[in-house]
Amino acid sequence: MSEPRKILVTSALPYANGSIHLGHMLEYIQTDMWVRFQKHRGNQCIYVCADDAHGSAIMLRAEKEGITPEQLIANVQAEHSADFAEFLVDFDNFHSTHAEENRELSSQIYLKLRDAGHIATRSITQYFDPEKKMFLADRFIKGTCPKCGTEDQYGDNCEKCGATYAPTDLKDPKSAISGATPVLKDSQHFFFKLPDFQEMLQAWTRSGTLQEAVANKIAEWLDAGLQQWDISRDAPYFGFEIPDEPGKYFYVWLDAPIGYMASFKNLCARRPDLDFDAFWGKDSTAELYHFIGKDIVNFHALFWPAMLEGAGFRKPTGINVHGYLTVNGQKMSKSRGTFVKARTYLDHLSPEYLRYYYAAKLGRGVDDLDLNLEDFVQKVNSDLVGKVVNIASRCAGFIHKGNAGVLVAGNAAPELTDAFLAAAPSIADAYEARDFARAMREIMGLADRANAWIADKAPWSLNKQEGKQDEVQAICALGINLFRQLVIFLKPVLPLLAADAEAFLNVAPLTWNDHATLLSNHQLNEFKPLMTRIDPVKVQAMTDASKEDLTASATDTGEAAPVGNGELAKDPLSPEIEFDTFAAVDLRVALILKAEAVEGADKLLRLTLDIGDEQRNVFSGIKSAYPDPSKLNGRLTMMIANLKPRKMKFGISEGMVMAAGPGGEEIYLLSPDSGAKPGQRIK
Ligand code: MSP
Ligand code: ZN
Repeated sequence: MSEPRKILVTSALPYANGSIHLGHMLEYIQTDMWVRFQKHRGNQCIYVCADDAHGSAIMLRAEKEGITPEQLIANVQAEHSADFAEFLVDFDNFHSTHAEENRELSSQIYLKLRDAGHIATRSITQYFDPEKKMFLADRFIKGTCPKCGTEDQYGDNCEKCGATYAPTDLKDPKSAISGATPVLKDSQHFFFKLPDFQEMLQAWTRSGTLQEAVANKIAEWLDAGLQQWDISRDAPYFGFEIPDEPGKYFYVWLDAPIGYMASFKNLCARRPDLDFDAFWGKDSTAELYHFIGKDIVNFHALFWPAMLEGAGFRKPTGINVHGYLTVNGQKMSKSRGTFVKARTYLDHLSPEYLRYYYAAKLGRGVDDLDLNLEDFVQKVNSDLVGKVVNIASRCAGFIHKGNAGVLVAGNAAPELTDAFLAAAPSIADAYEARDFARAMREIMGLADRANAWIADKAPWSLNKQEGKQDEVQAICALGINLFRQLVIFLKPVLPLLAADAEAFLNVAPLTWNDHATLLSNHQLNEFKPLMTRIDPVKVQAMTDASKEDLTASATDTGEAAPVGNGELAKDPLSPEIEFDTFAAVDLRVALILKAEAVEGADKLLRLTLDIGDEQRNVFSGIKSAYPDPSKLNGRLTMMIANLKPRKMKFGISEGMVMAAGPGGEEIYLLSPDSGAKPGQRIK
């Protein structure tokens, strides 16, 4: 066996201002399957990611919700982490770009670039919102198209006539944030001198680091000549201040890729076996791959390697680019219900269905991938349930009934096991090359052969004949062994199915090399159904719910999010906590002195609570269940009294009351039995 490889893998860092949807999941599932394959093969493979937490969009959304950016990104990080975990995306670390490691690395890289002469400064003129006292990015300016006169056009292009122009060409410009008329203002900006790296990039992008289609696109950009890249933004901005330049911040895309390093550095602190420099140092022999979508190629294949080179770090081994997800042949659409959030999918369907479907359709190219919902149901049911799981369910019963669950020794069809063995290297090559579609095709080809062989032997008929019991056992033992091989090949895609199969097979976690052996004289455990068919009704329910998401989202109303990320209905994944963590929560009986509606807020009630020694003001998103708030006056409930006070649009919320239920009219405020007194601690 050759030495295990050392591999560091990343997926693009999702923005911390929105939910994960099935388009994002294409990337995280693709990366996770590749990482799991590497681990399965015995390589050291580390998978890191983080939320991309900076930028004006996040600052403005937090402001709209009446919370701090830090609170917003903490809420979103919890939501994202839960979504990824449930989709079985197994990061070794999921960090945030708004973290100390990232501040340090960003400063360090910037200073190295500056001191080496790769940073330029010059003054640029931009629109400035005199009310908000901030410079306006193009998408925050609206006005009348200078070409065709259509009103209400954004930034730099007209949706009506397609004209492109500078925001300063717009007639009657307005700030999309405050509505004020913007004024032109000068400000000093900092630029990364990308042209310094033209030659290096020309060589690097042609050295096998990129897929061909991507390398060709980049060659066009390189031929056209590179521009300096503006890496600074003026305050107010949510990000890191530039060293020695008060009031100037790094543009979000400067510190975002550095977030890959920061997440890894953060992991190193917990994992003494990992050495930061061994992965990022100039002489690193580790492999480094970034998985990204086709929309962010310039940042990863031009700016990022240039930054790394200029600051004395190693460059990526490869940038793996995928296409965009379409649903039923079209761009994901909110009104058609095909803009499906990760959470909405998980509410209705098992994650492994989607993992398999994506695998079955993902090649190594940058083409878009279509999730056709009818095909999805059909393919998953026919391949996974009809072909793979079917082998085990056909054979297990005979072994349990006829031989007390023990697989007999021997090999009833060496030509079949030879074929499985011979296929393994090709399947491994397909995984390695990220040609998951080919890997799945070859695996399903093997499943077809196994099923055909069993059908031909027909153990169910033999079982009814005298003296054929040994033959039945031999056939079924091989059937189970072939099923085990298929599970080994599919494990990177279907880790849950693999775990359930391992329990049934009564074996230690399977690794790739286990495919070379067969189980014989081996006791099985009880067989439980390993996967059920997708019911199309559930798919319909998912798209219906996606249409509802449209109207239900708290962010659309601009209201403060009452619980978590604004959804009382969602049950977050609950990891186990230590007793100390629980004991740190100050739960109290609270008397509702007054409950009242909040002007301008559709969902909130303002509660004045008596907790014994003091009164508290708490905002709670329970109005939909209590349209007449005064009915709550005088009632006892329970509250978390030591929650950090939270600044909301309507005032400060000093704690949280406890309620259950899915949301809407079905929200039930919790109450203690009569006799409890305000201020008593709940234990
Ligand atoms: N924050 C940046 C990435 C910074 S990496 C240093 C960003 N975030 S994103 O949330 O918009 O996208 C995250 C990843 O998901 C990107 O690679 C993007 O291409 C991918 N996708 C977003 N929508 C997608 C589809 N509809 N289909 C496939 N991938 C998609 O970009
Ligand atoms: Zn126009």
